[in-house]
Amino acid sequence: MTTNQSPQPRDQSEERSSDADEYIQITNLRKTFSKGTIVACDDVDLDIGPEDFVVLLGPSGCGKTTTLRMIAGLETPDSGTITIDGREITDLKPKDRNLAYVFQNITLYPHKTVRKNIQFGLDMKTDLTNEAKQERVEHAADLLGLSDLLDRKPKALSGGQQQRVSLGRAMVMEPDAFLLDEPFSALDAKLRDQMRVEVKNFSANSKRRWFSSLTTKRKR
Ligand SMILES: Nc1ncnc2c1ncn2[C@@H]1O[C@H](COP(=O)(O)OP(=O)(O)OP(=O)(O)O)[C@@H](O)[C@H]1O
Ligand SMILES: [Mg+2]
Repeated sequence: MTTNQSPQPRDQSEERSSDADEYIQITNLRKTFSKGTIVACDDVDLDIGPEDFVVLLGPSGCGKTTTLRMIAGLETPDSGTITIDGREITDLKPKDRNLAYVFQNITLYPHKTVRKNIQFGLDMKTDLTNEAKQERVEHAADLLGLSDLLDRKPKALSGGQQQRVSLGRAMVMEPDAFLLDEPFSALDAKLRDQMRVEVKNFSANSKRRWFSSLTTKRKR
């Protein structure tokens, strides 16, 4: 993102400081590709408070995905810092950040059931007992309205149901924050509206931070 397109701190008159009210602080973040010839993000500053739901809005190619990927640790910034809860994480590996990233395209394992898809991260990254894993999977499925679909494979689901499985997979990890990259772009208008309401409801209840990206559509 270039400076004039970048999201700004909510109150620009406030001095930037390591304020306890700010949970995620992004300062002067810059990222280039192709030996500096493509500037994806330039001088991005953003302060996000606890329990905030932040949406990055901008035209295609302005750097929303790149910003989310740097927060998640999937890209390394050229310069700038990212701090979470007072701890600088700019150079930490993704696995050491406790953040969940939901990709722009739905990426479910086609041969695994909904249950196994949701459980996948728990199997890979935790030592929880099977009972504890099932408890988390069933709780997320309940919140997302997927309880009756746990034994189905992704191809037997609608787009909206698949998207909810992607969210469930992130939710069971109990991350500090959710990073959603255009989570509803693959859905039709009706499902998109439905998912917006659902995410709003469970983000209000979860007390976790939500950070999402959206592309603006030009009116023709
Ligand atoms: N791996 C890469 N190599 C080279 N250029 C890249 C790479 N990733 C992103 N870019 C470029 O960086 C810029 C920002 O890309 P990014 O994917 O962050 O945009 P976006 O705002 O998410 O766009 P969209 O709304 O289309 O998803 C674009 O010009 C893109 O072409
Ligand atoms: Mg993008």
